[in-house]
This record gives sequence, structure tokens and C-alpha cells, in this order.
Amino acid sequence: MIFPDLSSVLPFVSQSEFDALKPEAEFSNALLHTGQGAGSDFLGWVSLPSEISPELLADISSTARHLQQKADTVIIIGIGGSYLGSKAVFEALRDPFAAPKIVFAGHTLSEDYMSQLMEATKDREIAAVVISKSGTTTEPAVAFRIVKQEIEKRYGPQEAASRIVAITDSSRGALKKVATEAGYKTFTIPDDVGGRFSVLTPVGLLPLAIAGIDIEALVSGARQMEQVTGPQIPFEKNPAAQYAAARYLLYKHGFLVEILASYEPSLQYLGEWWKQLFGESEGKQNKGIFPASVSFTTDLHSLGQYIQEGERILFETVLSVREPSHTLKIEKAQDDGDGLNFLAGRRLSEVNHKAELGTSEAHVSGGVPNIRIEIPRISPTTLGELLYFFEKACGIGGYLLGVNPFDQPGVEVYKKNMFRLLGKPGF
Ligand code: PA5
Repeated sequence: MIFPDLSSVLPFVSQSEFDALKPEAEFSNALLHTGQGAGSDFLGWVSLPSEISPELLADISSTARHLQQKADTVIIIGIGGSYLGSKAVFEALRDPFAAPKIVFAGHTLSEDYMSQLMEATKDREIAAVVISKSGTTTEPAVAFRIVKQEIEKRYGPQEAASRIVAITDSSRGALKKVATEAGYKTFTIPDDVGGRFSVLTPVGLLPLAIAGIDIEALVSGARQMEQVTGPQIPFEKNPAAQYAAARYLLYKHGFLVEILASYEPSLQYLGEWWKQLFGESEGKQNKGIFPASVSFTTDLHSLGQYIQEGERILFETVLSVREPSHTLKIEKAQDDGDGLNFLAGRRLSEVNHKAELGTSEAHVSGGVPNIRIEIPRISPTTLGELLYFFEKACGIGGYLLGVNPFDQPGVEVYKKNMFRLLGKPGF
């Protein structure tokens, strides 16, 4: 089970400060369960893993099989919380060199991206899953119009209806209306689960099931984490509360930027999901840690210099994977022209781990506090644990900071400007 290693935080934050936070951290965690804190209408995610019904999981799995039979490529349309969770888990578990079963749209307004996607899928059998809680978000709505018209043109309206699944609100929004009128299979996003906390609803689970990922294992990992972060668990034993407290105290000490670092490129999109989760939840009222992410060792050759010697406002959270899923040894070379025979017989993962160790030591000695979160391997179960771990820490951290972690009033500003510039009626 995940438990953050805070030994390289304590040089920067005193043990007594950490201990003093116990009552507040436990209270913040309790608020998530009693529903007496800010944003309490959006706490459905807290008990999602333990409350998800076998019937819903079975419905998701059979819908996934239906779409798999109909199409070799399923276009998943959504943005923000209606996109990043499934993208993160998919990228973490997929073979990066195999043709993907699912592709993503609606997370960008790029004409080039959308044109290339339509071109790439023109000779493939396609289906679509369109995801929007509000049912009115511009990016996925535009992408869905394009994809829907293509599916209807190719297969006719009746067959098109059996190739499109909508995931949206139970009653509100344009998407719900379109889906009902066209007779699409639909899944509901619970009213009390906000976008960035929705990965364990059909929003995340259906695309992942279509991609062939074991969603029961994902949910079971999250369920285990739900148990060990419950309101009855004391601060010292609650991994999410420990992480939330450490980052909150670092923030109070002027460490304003948190970098999520991983040495596995497949976890890059987990970093994107994590950035949305914490950025949208904490960044308000002129407060909040700025979440950034890096992929090491790649970024040691770009941002590494800044991290080592730039402004001392950074702390690092390293997502460490103990065991890779593959084995590859470095062989001995006769001539040793590249001078690498000192590595002969060792696994690449050993080199990667030593790079991680050496980098963390260097950064801590350079004034960058380090939180280390180790997972045994990348699997649906450990990813489920991680997702819930970060969600719980985010809820606790938001309350420690004194903000409502479950709203996002700031994202409306750009939308109003864009609609005015586009001449949308009413703007
Ligand atoms: O976390 C959030 O609430 C947002 O990021 C939303 O998920 C995002 O804006 C997409 O919204 P919708 O699902 O309504 O299209």
C-alpha cells in the first residue's frame, strides 16, 4: 500500500510543525466524510470505490464489448475531468508502439489535430463515446458534431445510434437532449461528483474498459486506498493526510511550486491528470501550490538545471516504480568503445533507479524538498490506489488551505471572452 516517504521533507519543515497539524488534518479528512465542509454537494467521489455497484460495472463492460465488436477504433470525446483520468490510466498501461484501440478528441480546438484524426480513421471501423457532465462544453461539443456527422454519413442514423454512447448529466444539458432524441446508450455522471474527481465513474471506466483495461482491478485498488484513508484512521497512518500535510507545510514555508516527477514516460499523463486535480482544486483566492510535472531522466536534460539551481520555491514529489513490467539487460561489448562495460549484466531499471536516487539526493542538497511515493509496479490496481490517494489528499489539502476544493469559478472567464469574440448569442 502506498505511503509517502517524507524523510527528505523534514530538513525543511520541523517535526513539531508536522505533529501540530494532526488535529487540523484529521478534521479536514472528517469533513470530507461528514459533508460539513465547503463544496459538500460534490463529495460523491469519497465513497465511489466502495459503492460502485456490480451491475454498473457489468453494464460498462458489456457496453465496452459491444463497441469493441462494432469498431476497431473508438473515439473518446471529452476535456478536463471528462478526459484526463482515462487518458492517464490508458497511457500508463498501453503498449506505446501498438495501434491504440481508443483515440481522444474534444480536448483541443486544433483544426490540424481534428483533421488528422478524421483522416487517420477514415478507413477504420469507428464508434464514439462522448463525455460531458454539463453537456455544453464547447471543445467536446464541436468535436462531437464532426464525429457524429461522419458516423451518420457512413453508417446511417440508425446504425450510428448504436455506435455512439453518451456520458452526461442525468437531466441537464444539450448532450443529454441530443442523446435522448437519437436513442444513444447513456451513462450518468452522478450529480455529486465533479469532473476532476470522476475517473472512477463511467467517465473513466468506459473508455478504459474499451481499451481492454481491467477496470475491476482499478476500482479494487481505489477501494483499498479508501479504506486506509477513512475518517477513523489516525493522521500518522493516513497516507493521504500525510502527503496533504507535508505539501501544505512546504507551501507555508514558501515552496510555491510542486513538481510531480516520474522516471517512467508512461506516467506522463498521470502528471497531467494530477495537475488538473490540484490546480483546479487549490488555485483560487490568490492561493495554492502551482502544480507542474516532469518526466525524468528526459527533463533532467532540460529543466534539471533550473530545479538544481533556480529560484528556491520548488519541491518535488517523486512517483517511484519499484519493478518494471519488462526485463532488459545491458550486455557486455567486446571492444567497450563506449566505455559502458561497467554496466554489463545490469538491468536498465537498475540504472534508472540509481539515476532517481542520485537526482533526489542532488535536489535535496540543492534546497528542493522531496516527497517520495513508491508503487510496486504500474498496474490497474496500483493506479487505482494512486488515483484515490491523490483525490483524498487534494480534498484534505484544499480544506487545510481554506478553499473550496470542488468548484472552479476561474475557468469561466476565458469562456465568456471566447463566446463574445465568436459572436455567440447572449455574449
Ligand atoms: O473538473 C472539472 O469540473 C472540469 O475540468 C470539467 O471536467 C471540464 O471543464 C469539462 O466539463 P464537462 O464535463 O462539463 O464538459
